[in-house]
Amino acid sequence: MKTHTLLAAFALLATPFTLLSASPAGEPFGKMPDGRPVSVFTLSNKNGVQVRVSDLGATLVSVRVPDRKGVLADVTHGFDSAAGYLSDENPYFGATVGRFGNRIANGTFSLDGKSYRLAKNNAPGDMPCHLHGGTIGFNKKLWKVAANDTPRSITFEYTSPDGEEGYPGRLTARVTYALNDKNELRWIATATTDKPTIVNIVHHPYWNLTGDPSRSINDHRLTIPASRYLPTDAGLIPTGKLDAVKGTPMDFRKAHRIGDRVGESFEALTYGGGYDHCWVLDRPKPDGLAVAARLEDPSTGRRLTVRSNQPAIQFYGGNFLDGTVKGKNGTAYQHRTALCLETENFPDAPNQAAFPSARLNPGETYRHEMLYQFGVK
Ligand code: GLA
Repeated sequence: MKTHTLLAAFALLATPFTLLSASPAGEPFGKMPDGRPVSVFTLSNKNGVQVRVSDLGATLVSVRVPDRKGVLADVTHGFDSAAGYLSDENPYFGATVGRFGNRIANGTFSLDGKSYRLAKNNAPGDMPCHLHGGTIGFNKKLWKVAANDTPRSITFEYTSPDGEEGYPGRLTARVTYALNDKNELRWIATATTDKPTIVNIVHHPYWNLTGDPSRSINDHRLTIPASRYLPTDAGLIPTGKLDAVKGTPMDFRKAHRIGDRVGESFEALTYGGGYDHCWVLDRPKPDGLAVAARLEDPSTGRRLTVRSNQPAIQFYGGNFLDGTVKGKNGTAYQHRTALCLETENFPDAPNQAAFPSARLNPGETYRHEMLYQFGVK
């Protein structure tokens, strides 16, 4: 047989396989402001766990996991379609936050002697700052599907042009979601740049392990293996000190019911309107995955262990939720009905020389990996 005939035969045979392995299309999830379609993709495993993610913002849309009786329920806040995620009222539900998660004082930083101005899109305590990547952060961008192995994993990619939202360098970010049969969900963010820049890509799911989004998270029990946290000013910008948690309501080294001490009169809790702080992990593993938090809901037995390669974790107790945001199935999300466990570099790191560097140089690859391990007690 001539080579070209062989090739032709192979091509014919290969076609259906190529088609099969090429991107199983997601389901429609709405439209971008410019009309481009937004999709939602489903990951699933042999235990019936189901995770939905969207190419809008590389967002985690829902996570259905079993309780101690095997009953599956969605344990995350979010919206039914793209419109909710694109709205101004979206408090970063399930978001992949970028380029820089958490706050940058005054919306400014300098790098190699040049100063950069970012949007001041947040102002706790009437002190304007930059929050979560700016006016149109990564969470409001349409990412492209770079690899699709649903229902096991999917990778999204977004290239942010040089200067976007005021940040230097053309930054190419990738986010992979992968689910395995041990009920573990992995979130991996990587980024490369063509100019020195700063980066802190942060995953921002809102958890309520009861599976009932109307219930308070105050009964959840939380452990954070951190003997120090970053006290802030009234604008929630770290002062630069690392304070001991010992003897304070910030001590979660042993499991505590979240609601037990949240009402205590303690400066940090006053500024945060509750828990909204960054804890410094005692035993970070930059090249591995250290436990960053353990969360448990005694009523359903659901448990979540968060592991990460990052040095710190922001525990935000849903203090800004006040019933105005209407999410999935029209639920008005009330005060403290979900909490966030965001592993990260320290907030305001670009302005604080003593904090771990947030700098990324050309030729280097930023990598932030998280592992969410779901279980029951
Ligand atoms: C983070 C911050 C909070 C708040 C939420 C979004 O977790 O720490 O102060 O801005 O995001 O609402």
